[in-house]
Formats: sequence, structure tokens, C-alpha cells
Amino acid sequence: MNYPGFPISRPRRLRTSPALRRLVAETQLNVAQLVLPLFARSGKKLRRPVEAMPGVFQLSPDEIVREATAAHALRVPAVLLFGIPDKKDDRASGAYAKNGIVQTTVRLLKKELPSLLVITDVCLCEYMAHGHCGIVTGGKILNDPTLKLLARTAASHAESGADIVAPSDMMDGRVRAIRAELDNEGFLDTPIMSYAAKFASAFYGPFREVAESTPKFGDRRSYQMDAANANEAMREVALDIQEGADIVMVKPALAYLDIIHRVKKEFGLPTAAYAVSGEHAMIKAAAQKGWIDERAVTLESLLAMRRAGADILITYAAMDVAKWIK
Ligand code: PBG
Repeated sequence: MNYPGFPISRPRRLRTSPALRRLVAETQLNVAQLVLPLFARSGKKLRRPVEAMPGVFQLSPDEIVREATAAHALRVPAVLLFGIPDKKDDRASGAYAKNGIVQTTVRLLKKELPSLLVITDVCLCEYMAHGHCGIVTGGKILNDPTLKLLARTAASHAESGADIVAPSDMMDGRVRAIRAELDNEGFLDTPIMSYAAKFASAFYGPFREVAESTPKFGDRRSYQMDAANANEAMREVALDIQEGADIVMVKPALAYLDIIHRVKKEFGLPTAAYAVSGEHAMIKAAAQKGWIDERAVTLESLLAMRRAGADILITYAAMDVAKWIK
């Protein structure tokens, strides 16, 4: 690019009307890019609000269908499903149970809304009594024994009809283990969206209240990434791609735009950004106080993720955004 400079070059020329600004906009927000996270728990007509996340609920399967129907009607193409089991144990058996909460809900969703994409979060923390994402022995989170459980969980989701599985545990080698199990079970065409660069983040606080997945001891720093590291994020993403990831995710989003940018530039894969619970909560709280404009700040944040390189936006505001940009 070569600018001769003022006064010949006047960047303001292209900003003189809304139509002109739209014409030269480099980045767009489109409803086709949105993914809405939903939280399922057993019951009927259950719609339990969560204090830290206005507008987010724990929903029984019938209510999930209602919420998903509304999202679908707004042309939101996909939901990301989390489960809150009735019972937790130290083998996360609810995660891969044939009639587990996610499995049951996926079957119902695919029956009622076949064209809505159902992405399932594959993790063990919600199903473990101790709240960690892997098997724990002697206070340690074990890597390799956990892989088998994650692979079983992913296959059981695929078997129930999940369109995409999304491992969020951050164990080493889990994408390969899941790919092998899916292929073994005949799910050759089920894509993996891996939480490839997932940071140990304080922005997950409100989520853990919704998903009831706060660790009972310690923290997740022995498996999730250190916020200080960007080169390591690139190695994490490269590994997941080698192991068979079809879509890679960066999480959180807003504080990690540099990672999104580098990942998209280096690998060129479909790249997802997860605007996590704490990001959502901050916008909601400030908006409730009347300190910021919720709509403008939400749209600007998501546009920034697109500008950084994200193709897919996972956001609790997906339905509002769909209405706003219509
Ligand atoms: C489960 C998982 C978490 C999130 C998505 N999947 C929480 C965590 O890792 O503790 C966070 C999502 C959010 O904060 O919105 N491992």
C-alpha cells in the first residue's frame, strides 16, 4: 500500500455516508457465523436463571428445544450443548452414559430440529465429583487414562446425533484419541472442533456457576494454558491440527485477539472464537448500570474478533445479535 499523503489522500472521503462506509467495510458480522451455548439438565419445563449470567438458564430438554427453536427461527445455525448431570462421580460416568443428559437432549434436538447444527462440548468436569477435567489420583490430574473417557464421551455424542464434537478438556493427545474412536465407531464424517488454545482464565467464573463445574480443589493451571504464552498457543493448535482437528478454537476471545490473529494467519483453518461467560457478564453488568450501550459494545467486540480472524463466533448473545443485525 502506498499513500501519497495529504492533501491528495483524504481517508475521510470514504466515511461520508453510511452506504459508503458499508461499501468499504473490510469485515462483516453475519448470523451464519454465530453459535449459541445452551445448558441442559434433567426435568420438565425447567428454566433456572443463573445469577452471574443474565439471560442464561439451565434448561430441561423440552426447554432446550424451545430455546433452540427460537434461535433457529432467527437463523442462528448452531448450538453448543453442555450438560449438568443429576449425579457426579470420580469416573464422570454421566458424560458417556447412553441416556446421559447431553445424549438425551441431542437426540431430541435432532428429531425436532434436524437442520440445526448441534455441537457438543466434550469434557468431564461437569460430571466429576471433584470438578476437574480428567481422572484424579493423589491430587494429580492424570492425562492418558483420561483420554479413553473423553473418546467414549465423544463417540456417545456422535452416536446420539451430534453434528460436531468439541473437546474442551485440554488433555494432551485427546484429539487423536477422539478421532480414532470416532473412526472406529463409523463416525468418519463427524468433525472435531477442538478448544485448541484454551487458557486458564478468570473469565470462566460465571460459566462454572451455570455448569456447576468449579474444581473442588486447586485450579486448572496444570492443563489449561498460561495467559502469558502466545508461542505455546501456536504449538497447541499445531498439535491439534496434526491430530485431526477440523476447526480450532481460541478461548477466551476478547483478551486473546492476538492469538486468534496468529492462529488464523498461520494455519488458515476454520477458526472459532469463544466469547466466554466473564466477557458476557462484564458487558451485561455495565449495561445494567447504564454505563455502556449493550448492543453497540457487543457488536463491536464480535466485530473485533472477526477482524482478528475468527470465522465462527460462540456467544451467549447469539440471539440478540441475530436480531440486531437482521
Ligand atoms: C469445560 C468448559 C469451561 C468453559 C467451556 N467448557 C469451563 C472451564 O474450563 O472451567 C468456559 C466457558 C465460559 O466461561 O463461557 N471445561
